Formats: sequence, C-alpha cells, structure tokens
Amino acid sequence: MRCHPTVRPIFARMLATAPDRLVNPLARWRTDFPIFERRVYLNSCSLGALSRQARGRVAGYLDQWDDRGAANWYDVWWAALEELRVRYGRVLNAQPGEIALHASVSGILGVIGSGLDTRRRRRIVTTGLDFPTLPYQWLPRDVEVVILESPDGVSVPLEAFERAVNADTALVATSHVYFTSGAIQDVRAVGELAHRAGALCLIDGYQAAGQIPVDVHALDVDFYVTGGLKWLLGGSGITMLYARTATTAAVIPRATGWFAHREQFSFDPGHFAPHDDARRFETGTPALLAVHAQLGGLDVVEAAGIPAIRAVTSALTEDLIAAAQSRGLRPKVAATPAERSGIVMLPRTDPHADVARLAAAGFVVDSRPGHVRVSPYFYNVADDHRALLEELLDA
Ligand SMILES: Cc1ncc(COP(=O)(O)O)c(C=O)c1O
Repeated sequence: MRCHPTVRPIFARMLATAPDRLVNPLARWRTDFPIFERRVYLNSCSLGALSRQARGRVAGYLDQWDDRGAANWYDVWWAALEELRVRYGRVLNAQPGEIALHASVSGILGVIGSGLDTRRRRRIVTTGLDFPTLPYQWLPRDVEVVILESPDGVSVPLEAFERAVNADTALVATSHVYFTSGAIQDVRAVGELAHRAGALCLIDGYQAAGQIPVDVHALDVDFYVTGGLKWLLGGSGITMLYARTATTAAVIPRATGWFAHREQFSFDPGHFAPHDDARRFETGTPALLAVHAQLGGLDVVEAAGIPAIRAVTSALTEDLIAAAQSRGLRPKVAATPAERSGIVMLPRTDPHADVARLAAAGFVVDSRPGHVRVSPYFYNVADDHRALLEELLDA
C-alpha cells in the first residue's frame, strides 16, 4: 500500500503490534478510496471519502456535458434524476414518488416550513442535540420553538418529548442519529407520540442513512431528510426528502419552483399546480455534478450492503471505544452498542490542537467543543483508530 510519508511508519507499527486486529469483511472496498493511500481517514460523519466510482460517474457527466451540452437533458440527465429518486428510495425503503431531490437539508426544511400551517398549532419541538439548522428554520418564524435539553449530552429521554408535545404542537423535528454523540434515537417512538398529539414528525437522518438500515415506512414518520455528504458517499450538494404520501397531500409549500409543477414544461406563468407526489417539495434544477457523484457513491453503498456496513461499522466503533477506554479515555457515547453509531466523541482539553497535530501525522479527524470526534466507517480497519489513539496519546 502506498502511504503518506508520515503514515507509513504508523502502519508498520500497527502491523507489528496488532495481531488481534478485527477482520473487516468489507475491507476490500478500501482500495476504491484512494485517500487511504495517503492518509488515515476517520471523518466520515463530516464527509464520506471519495470513491473511484463517484469520480467515474462525475467524469462521465463532464464528458456528456462536453459532448452534447443541453441535449443531454432530454435523455441521460433526466434519466439520472429518475435513477437517483429510485435509488434514494431504496436506501430508505421508500417509493420514488415519495422522494424529492434538493441541494441541502436546510433548503428542504425551508420548503417544508413554508407549507406548514402554524396558525392554530404554533409549537415546534426540537432538541439541543440536533444539528442547529433544524431550530434555525423555526426561530425567525412566528412560532414557539421548544428546544429540549439533554441531561447527559448523549441523548434526550422520550419522556422529555412526551412532556413537551401537546395539542399546540405542529411539528416534532429531531435526529435519527445525533451528530453530537452518535446516539441512535428511537424515532418510531418519537413519531408515535407526535402523531398521538396530532403533530407531524420530521426526522433529520443525515447522520443515519447509509451507516444504519432505515425503513421510513416502519418508522412511520412524516418527513425524513438525508443526503450524500456523509454516509451515502455522494459529497456535497445533493440531499433528499422522503415525504409520506398522506402528509404530502396535506402540505402545499409556498417556497417552490418549476420542478414542483406537475406540468413543468408548459411554461405557463399564470398557473401553478403542484405535483401530487413528493416532487411538490422540489424547487429548481438539481446540481448535476452532485447527482452523478451520488450515483457513484451509491454504487458502493448498495454493493457493500447497508446491513453489512452497519455490522462492520458497529464492530469498529466498539473496538475503538474499548481501545480508548483501555488507554484511560472516557468516550462520550450512548449506553449500549445498539444505540451507538460510527461517531465517537473523545473528551480532550484542547481538541483543536489535537486535530491539527493528528492532521500533520496523516490522520483526518475533527473536533467539536471539548472533544476529538472520530468516525469509523466500513472502509476503515481497526488499525486505523488504534494508530490514531497511539498518536493522540503519545504527545
Ligand atoms: C445531522 C445534520 N443535519 C444537517 C446538516 C447540514 O445540512 P445542510 O448543510 O445540507 O443544510 C448536518 C451537517 O452537515 C448534519 O450533521
């Protein structure tokens, strides 16, 4: 294996000192991610690594653009959008007509917010552990935003939702996997209590889809948002909304565009008739570079298989936690392996300095307040995080 000069000695040390290392049945995919020739990448919860497959699909798109320009719209590019709705649907066990494409989660939230009737129900319930773009959608609006606190910084008890969600609640908006702790939330239970109170439930699954199996019908939520950036290996600029069919029929977004129009190509400025299906939540032309990167990323995710990805990521996560604990660290993670995912927070006094020092040694991780955040995925091997811990604690 070709290595970053600073990484090479680390690999040599790992091979010499880790006879008990985990066998990763998906490790063969690692060679499809060239970054591992130069660095130890452990930051998939920020950005999934670039695969040869994603690069290949993007290169193909650029060739098409160069060859036929706009003529591609009428066949291959329109087909690429259809392909992505089908394949995104498969990731969530949804139908293509339940999927809308967008450039960002924030954009999706804005569209949904524009369609919610908050005149009679004014309360939006979210939590302090959710990604801030979730509450930001509601804070500037004329609604009451309730931000539930987490007692331990890891998760929010269901009882807190139960106490906050009432007959005045329009929406419960929270995460499937908390970006702050990696904890997997029981979103089916959250959805149930929202529906009991007559409220809708929106789940931010940006940190979930790809790394854990998701079945939106079984979860029984109204909206589920996720995208390419992290675990679906599609890079930035491509996200999706799942919208439950019955909910779609009841929500007409005011923030909209021609992709939401059921007769998009009638070019009739005087009439607007939204699609019956989830495309009514779309707005304008999707970023085709990102669409193609995502299709390539999905080639890998689908071939590796999300259940297998979950099994491997879970094994790596548990090994990382155990290795960190055996070196005296106290990772901030959920109580049981079933509630944990590939985001491990290591408490540190100067995480910024740690991350910079690790980067100089060839390790890519990130920091959040008070923590170094380490994020293993199926293309990692246990030697990656063991070498990282050695480097982190060597100083
Ligand atoms: C859970 C979660 N939601 C939302 C976002 C941001 O979404 P966007 O930048 O697409 O609005 C992030 C991070 O990028 C995230 O981790």
